[in-house]
Amino acid sequence: MALRFPDGFLWGCATAAYQIEGAPEADGKGPSIWDRFVHTPGLMQDGATGDVACDHYHRFREDVALMKQLGMQAYRFSLSWSRILPEGAGRVNPGGLAFYSDLIDELLAHGIEPIITLYHWDLPAVLEDQGGWLNRASSQWFADYARIVFEAFDGRVKTWATINEPWVISHEGYLRGTLAPGHRNLFEVPLVSHNLMRAHGAAVQAYREVGHHAIGLVVNIEPKYPATPSEADAAAAHRASAYMNAQYLDAALLGHYPPELREIFGEAWPEHDPADFDLIRQPLDFIGVNYYTRAVTRRDDHDWLLQAGVVRQTQATYSETHWEVFAQGLTDTLEWVRERYGDIPLYITENGAAFFDPPKAEGGRIRDPLRTDYLQKHLLAVHAAITQGVDIRGYMVWSLLDNLEWSQGYSKRFGIVHVNFETLERTPKDSARYYAQAIARHGAIL
Ligand code: NOJ
Repeated sequence: MALRFPDGFLWGCATAAYQIEGAPEADGKGPSIWDRFVHTPGLMQDGATGDVACDHYHRFREDVALMKQLGMQAYRFSLSWSRILPEGAGRVNPGGLAFYSDLIDELLAHGIEPIITLYHWDLPAVLEDQGGWLNRASSQWFADYARIVFEAFDGRVKTWATINEPWVISHEGYLRGTLAPGHRNLFEVPLVSHNLMRAHGAAVQAYREVGHHAIGLVVNIEPKYPATPSEADAAAAHRASAYMNAQYLDAALLGHYPPELREIFGEAWPEHDPADFDLIRQPLDFIGVNYYTRAVTRRDDHDWLLQAGVVRQTQATYSETHWEVFAQGLTDTLEWVRERYGDIPLYITENGAAFFDPPKAEGGRIRDPLRTDYLQKHLLAVHAAITQGVDIRGYMVWSLLDNLEWSQGYSKRFGIVHVNFETLERTPKDSARYYAQAIARHGAIL
């Protein structure tokens, strides 16, 4: 089927610093909460660490060449805060800035547009020792760091994202403890969320003072569909969506939290200073949407927080992360964002899937038809939303490379390019070839 995407639609790929860079002590970098987390016995699957990861820190020129070869027009990556400010605040490390400056130059020399995420989960460890995101000063720390990198790179970088997936940070990092800093405390969750949003707002304010281009927020959205028409299931889906999908965008764009949250958190819900929302609610240039799957939701009283459970779909394909492949959910998500928040430009800042990949065949091919199929279906879903009039500016596949899937280590491969973690050799999978063709024909080979 031949499809056309709007002129100027950006095709690219995404990564995050800790998942690919390695080199945790290179050129004056300070430790982050992830350096600590991975070296705490028992927290990581197979004892994996990001000490080497894809060694992108030393191989970024090779990786940029690979992106060029695949025809990428944009590359979304994150900065490691503790490379740039080893103590989190104060002293700037020229070695850290130099690495990202060289990466940006390399991208631009290859005609690839850099898109920078300021925070993709690796808080400087010294700031965690001062309370991390639980400390209200974190918004100031973040804005100071943001201002330094805006001043250094805004001349060359036109698209900025403040924070990646605040829901995942608060839920997995402070409630379930599966991500750094590994806390498990319901009372911390809304405080952290609120400080993340204050930090987001403070960074956007700083951007308006020193930046000249576009800045937005990146959220994960997983649409919740009630399992049955019953009121109980509809209410469960509604609670789950308020908690996961609406919480952060409501704060950033509407200036308040969804009212359901007070009930969900109960006595753990704090009284917020109304003046904080003046900081949090800043005009944004775009929203970044990370989409992977949906959740068919039913009332489940065993779930202590939301009284909501997910119903497994027996006819569906599931990825290695046990996520249902459901492309219609991406169309629905993009339409939901427009309905709830109005006409604001959107990027799909992440979309992709982990599947088991077979070993390299003769001729170096890696056949990953499930990932190719996933991409094809989701590109069609994006196009369908565009046809419905949603203003979508670009699509970034997650991920360029197989990488460290956080506490699941190297067991989940999301790359369209295979990485051999012994030799660090990169091999584009069939899905990369498919995606390169889609880009080359502006989506028209679907
Ligand atoms: C979202 C996160 O931003 C990214 O870091 C992660 O690897 C992917 N989802 C896949 O789980």
